[in-house]
Amino acid sequence: MAQEQAVIFIIFGGSGDLAHRKLYPALFKLYTKGYLRQHFAVIGTARRPWSHEYFRQTVSESVANDLGDQAQVASFVQHFYYQSHDVKDANHYVALKKLAQQLNQQYQAQNNQIFYMAIAPQFFGTVAQHVNSEGLLNPDGFNRLVIEKPFGKDLTTARALNDSISATFKEEQIYRIDHYLGKEMIQALPILRFTNPVLEAVWNCHYISNIQITLAEALGVGERAGYYESAGALRDMIQNHALQILALLAMERPTEFTSQAVHQQKEQLFAQLHHYTLSEVDHNFVRGQYDVDRRGYQTAYREADNVPDDSLTETFVAGRIFVDTPRWHNVPFYVRTGKRLRQKATRIDIVFQPETNNIFANYHKQKILPRPTVLTIAIEPRQGLCLTVNGTNPGLGLRNSLQPLSFRQSDGSLANSQEAYEKLLIDILQGDQTNFTNWIEQAYTWQFIDIIRQRWDQITPDFPNYRSNTFGPSKSDQLLAQLGHEWIFGTDSF
Ligand SMILES: NC(=O)c1ccc[n+]([C@@H]2O[C@H](COP(=O)([O-])OP(=O)(O)OC[C@H]3O[C@@H](n4cnc5c(N)ncnc54)[C@H](OP(=O)(O)O)[C@@H]3O)[C@@H](O)[C@H]2O)c1
Repeated sequence: MAQEQAVIFIIFGGSGDLAHRKLYPALFKLYTKGYLRQHFAVIGTARRPWSHEYFRQTVSESVANDLGDQAQVASFVQHFYYQSHDVKDANHYVALKKLAQQLNQQYQAQNNQIFYMAIAPQFFGTVAQHVNSEGLLNPDGFNRLVIEKPFGKDLTTARALNDSISATFKEEQIYRIDHYLGKEMIQALPILRFTNPVLEAVWNCHYISNIQITLAEALGVGERAGYYESAGALRDMIQNHALQILALLAMERPTEFTSQAVHQQKEQLFAQLHHYTLSEVDHNFVRGQYDVDRRGYQTAYREADNVPDDSLTETFVAGRIFVDTPRWHNVPFYVRTGKRLRQKATRIDIVFQPETNNIFANYHKQKILPRPTVLTIAIEPRQGLCLTVNGTNPGLGLRNSLQPLSFRQSDGSLANSQEAYEKLLIDILQGDQTNFTNWIEQAYTWQFIDIIRQRWDQITPDFPNYRSNTFGPSKSDQLLAQLGHEWIFGTDSF
């Protein structure tokens, strides 16, 4: 039974895309499930001069596709209020405070407030500063700040951003969203690792040859070119999502599953990422930008709206990362992300050490060649696990074949699974920071990424260098071949 939480949400950027596409549908789900019932209100703010009624209409439309009867939608949107607000205008915060206080009384929200930044990052500091100076923090309840990515574009800008918000909010009040950490199968990783001693026993360099983390998108840049041009795949996907997944796979066992203990292990892990010298980057990281596909149906990145003809922004990254701990001695963690790849998939492939003493090598001239055992963790769109082992084919003689021991969530259970935003909002309501990133993690990951970016900024790439509807540039395959490895995703059928 869901426990109701009393709270006033103040959403900066309440008229925007993120708020309507992700936030309001997730809040509605929480309403239908009872996490939010009577004692909550949502204040949406943005510059455009909307009325409460018009705002409620837009919120109704944004949740219209979700299950729920019209009466439920109508009662949900009655909790929504709009205030026209320019984040740079101090007077507007005075009006906002008044409205928040009034709604706190009206809904008996127990002085709890969540400030949600669904607005461009350049405004985060301004908002935080005014929230403080105009006295919006309520000392009698909780005050939580929610921030979306990107958290800076390098260590320097991330630090400036962090300084600007931490003058008002303490670290334990800040929830930095990495929505991958809200995904079912990512949240399942600690369960998988730390409740199956049989897996824990082999979770090290003695048994694991390499680990592959793939975040593949089939779509191109779409309408996000404005943002993407200033970010690129390295900052957009590797600094946050890929490295967070890596940390959950590679961290040591926390003493207990609490936010503090998990973050302690993740911080230690990030501190032990092996940093490359500038010239080593060339050998260990590959970048790419998509071109038209072979048939010319799909356009090149440089043809997208708001992308310059000579853009050097990478839409693909593959990299080899080492963790300098005894557990992961010489085990490469390969990360790969890209747009316009042949198939959309987020997955992890744990490739175990191959058998080196093949007693079947000369068995009746059958040439039995075992392949490495692979544990695949499918995150989306499929969710499931697959252990691919060497087995035999039926028939005369001994013939080996790869056999998948696999489990996939059914469509029915997927329909019942919670969206990442829903899960993360419940965590925020309950004050659980486990599935969010903290400042120390941000600082370490930027430090690591900055070296790669710095090297790439010294050299003009030969872009575009991969066709749409492929698995990226050939150098990505060569990166693995250097150590005798190959990408599992793209060659298997799970
Ligand atoms: N959209 C996504 O799927 C997504 C995914 C991940 C992260 N994010 C992050 O989420 C944030 C919002 O993104 P978005 O896509 O929702 O952007 P968006 O659609 O452009 O929305 C921006 C919002 O900010 C408001 N705004 C702009 N200038 C303002 C000002 N001076 N004072 C007050 N309000 C102002 C806009 O309304 P007015 O113009 O009326 O002021 C609008 O409500 C960004 O940090 C983005 O990086 C978005």
